[in-house]
Amino acid sequence: MKNFHFVLMAALFSFVFACKSPSLKDSIDSSFKVAAQRYDSLLATATDLSRYPHSFTPKGELFYFGIDEWTGGFWPGALWYMYEYTGDVKWKEAALKWTASLESNQYNTKHHDIGFMMFSSYGNGLRITGDTSYKPILIQSAKSLCQRYSPIVGSIQSWNARPSIDKKNLWNFPVIMDNMMNLELLFWAAKETGDTGFYNIAVQHAKTTQKNHIRKDYGSYHVVNYDTITGEVLHRQTLQGFSDESTWARGQAWGIYGFTTVYRFTKDSSFLTTAKGLADFFLKHKNLPTDKVPLWDFNVGEEGYQPDWNFDPSKFPETPRDASAAAIAASALLELSDYCSGEEQQYYKNAASDILVSLSKEPYLNTDKANPYFVLKNCVGNLPAGREINVPLIYADYYFLEAMHRWLARNK
Ligand code: GLY
Repeated sequence: MKNFHFVLMAALFSFVFACKSPSLKDSIDSSFKVAAQRYDSLLATATDLSRYPHSFTPKGELFYFGIDEWTGGFWPGALWYMYEYTGDVKWKEAALKWTASLESNQYNTKHHDIGFMMFSSYGNGLRITGDTSYKPILIQSAKSLCQRYSPIVGSIQSWNARPSIDKKNLWNFPVIMDNMMNLELLFWAAKETGDTGFYNIAVQHAKTTQKNHIRKDYGSYHVVNYDTITGEVLHRQTLQGFSDESTWARGQAWGIYGFTTVYRFTKDSSFLTTAKGLADFFLKHKNLPTDKVPLWDFNVGEEGYQPDWNFDPSKFPETPRDASAAAIAASALLELSDYCSGEEQQYYKNAASDILVSLSKEPYLNTDKANPYFVLKNCVGNLPAGREINVPLIYADYYFLEAMHRWLARNK
């Protein structure tokens, strides 16, 4: 009888608990529903195939990027993820159209971002539809990316020569952590063509980044500038982070994702160690808020971190969070957990789930009437430049949708 009471109480407790807190699966399903509503509006409004939805301004306007800017592939990529989740051909038709609009980018050698642009659009399109006409476009994209590789430096140049934020240094060969995200395109091209040149460039770029962008504590530098003649490191700085020695949250998330991807293709354990080190820095940082959505930079306003730009703390009574960094990290942590076992595996899985729980509700999930277009809000694009602060960003949406797919695939 006692046992019966105990079982009854336990069942009642689980029932009440289940009613109170929706499961993550439920939250993911409702986030996809929110995404469907938002993207119905976005599809209806963004009809010019040369203007790529990028953000939504505080003034209440949709903000677009042009074809050769870095975020163009995320909108078609998000549409592919919507099609994959719903099976509704309306998303496929839209994804096909927006993907095709990027075709000329296969020749884009203006910056390193071609991997972001083409693999999130054409790469997902190929994976989902198997349309082989996408292959030569992706191969050409990989060739274009390789044109920015210097064997002296052992890296792909991210941006063209430009000054540092305080204009004191000229960066002739700047490489940013974000560039790790372009390597998947090269690994894919190596497999597809059998040309080991793509593979070697990707691996060398990852090794150079591993050596020069990561500190002893696994915090990361945003920008490393190299001497093009000797290959020496000239500067370790930041453009989008708080200060040169701080750790910019999105850069750290790109690093976790990038090194995890490189491990997938190489099975070189040193890349796995790096990915875990970067992840542990992110997850165990004393300034990571309890909802695991990071401040836009881990060290904003901290003693000992000197910004090279005019930081006015009175403008930010609350330090902005970056939901885009959280979404990228969640997606990366889910893959990283695949390469671990036991408690460690559970730790990364739980951390990714915690992030997804946070992103699936206020203040990150966007159900605002004033902005009917994006899935997430409260991201930071470039705070030192005074741009994109507490706004939606299309790449936050993309990695959130991807992370939810990855979570669903691992929790069937
Ligand atoms: N790659 C640019 C950024 O993360 O803002």
